Amino acid sequence: MADTMTAGGGPATDVAGGGAAPPALEVRDTRTGKSYTIPIVDGAIRANDLKQIKSGPDDQGLLSYDPAFLNTAACRSKITFIDGDRGILRYRGYPIEQLAEKASFLEVAWLLRHGDLPTQTEYDAWVHEVTYHTYVHENFKKFLEGFRYDAHPMSMLCSAVAALSSFYPAAKDIFDPLQRDISVIRLIAKVPTIAAFIYRHMKGLPFVYPDNELSYSENFLSMVARMSQPKYKSNPTFTRAIEILFILHADHEQNCSTSAVRSVGSSQVDPYSAVAAGIAALYGPLHGGANEAVLRMIEEIGDPKRVPAFIEGVKKGSGRLMGFGHRVYKSYDPRAKIVKHLADEVVASVGMDRDLEIALELERIALQDDYFISRKLYPNVDFYTGLIYRSMKFPTSFFTVLFAIARTAGWLAQWEEMLLDKEQKIARPRQLYVGSAERPYASTLAKVIVTPARN
Ligand code: CMC
Repeated sequence: MADTMTAGGGPATDVAGGGAAPPALEVRDTRTGKSYTIPIVDGAIRANDLKQIKSGPDDQGLLSYDPAFLNTAACRSKITFIDGDRGILRYRGYPIEQLAEKASFLEVAWLLRHGDLPTQTEYDAWVHEVTYHTYVHENFKKFLEGFRYDAHPMSMLCSAVAALSSFYPAAKDIFDPLQRDISVIRLIAKVPTIAAFIYRHMKGLPFVYPDNELSYSENFLSMVARMSQPKYKSNPTFTRAIEILFILHADHEQNCSTSAVRSVGSSQVDPYSAVAAGIAALYGPLHGGANEAVLRMIEEIGDPKRVPAFIEGVKKGSGRLMGFGHRVYKSYDPRAKIVKHLADEVVASVGMDRDLEIALELERIALQDDYFISRKLYPNVDFYTGLIYRSMKFPTSFFTVLFAIARTAGWLAQWEEMLLDKEQKIARPRQLYVGSAERPYASTLAKVIVTPARN
């Protein structure tokens, strides 16, 4: 006769006559004939509840196998909501379209961390703090000068943010709210300065110090582009475009880099080191590096006439259409719609060019092709961001750095949520070992260097 157990290992409760039963999953293990009742909370079962399901006394319990976390929730989060099928993105409940149109990036950064929009007093104090922490230690200039002229800016950014940790040893005290506050302020304030210094290093130009009278985005553009003029005045279309792109990129729930920040942060390391891990993850071409890859792809295509042949090649497996497809969005990425509109505005201010024509042709052909339609592959946020950045004369290799500046706000909000979540522990996935069984050591090497045994 089949036993029925609860998730905690006890017999299933008879709820007859006691109202509606709490939602649960009834499963039967065909290896043993035993049945189990596993509670469903918020549409999920706890993977740990599977542990009680054993084929025999030596079995360590059933695991769920989920390479690349396709269907595993690793946390409860109140920060960002995505409905990939309906193309919805909200930060703390606010639709991304409204935030992009009406909010400032620093307001969004506050919202992500604190959960509600700031009051005027909170906002003013926050902007003041961020503005007055934009300077970096003078040693930082020497540190950046150590990089070769052709070092990739994401390698430099990743190392530089990791190095920031060495300037602020007190940041290790992550359970002190004051230390967390100052670390969050410093990171959001200094990452644009470091990014701009990296840009100037790439170009062999002198570093430009922050200008505290400018807004967050305008100050960043000033540190990037200012030459001999005493006061920098940016193109308002560019400043607004940067502000909107920063808002769109500020958070995107549990993506690869955010998972990296949470996972590394779960070891209780300081936030500079955790954010450096996020930057490393973002660098990859399947993640933040896609905006750079889109432009390289467009350059390779070279002419709108060559788009059909390129698309045929993608369909035959010769590569991917970069800037298309998303793990979560199975309809139009809501950010891509905003970015496309923004690209029109920026391009209108600098003039249409061949690359944009190629992009429009790629989008037009792909959106009517059954290969892309059947796989629900739509343009993602990175399809158009590269074109905007290029119109603003940023070098292609610098695009992902711009993404990283914005995502720092999201990484920090997610890092703090993880730290304060009592359910979280050090991240430590399980594995299914499929390697050799025990075997005796039998070397075939002619010479082996063995460290002498200690006395
Ligand atoms: N071009 C051509 N085919 C594609 C593409 C693409 N861009 N993306 C997915 N596919 C195909 C893939 O070959 C597979 O086909 P099949 O079922 O015949 O094997 C199917 O669609 C499903 O692909 P997948 O690799 O299982 O999907 P995924 O969820 O693991 O990958 C992705 C998501 C974003 C990594 C992928 O769509 C991709 O590589 N896109 C291009 C890179 C890109 O634009 N990345 C930016 C993502 S948005 C910003 C960010 O996250 O930072």
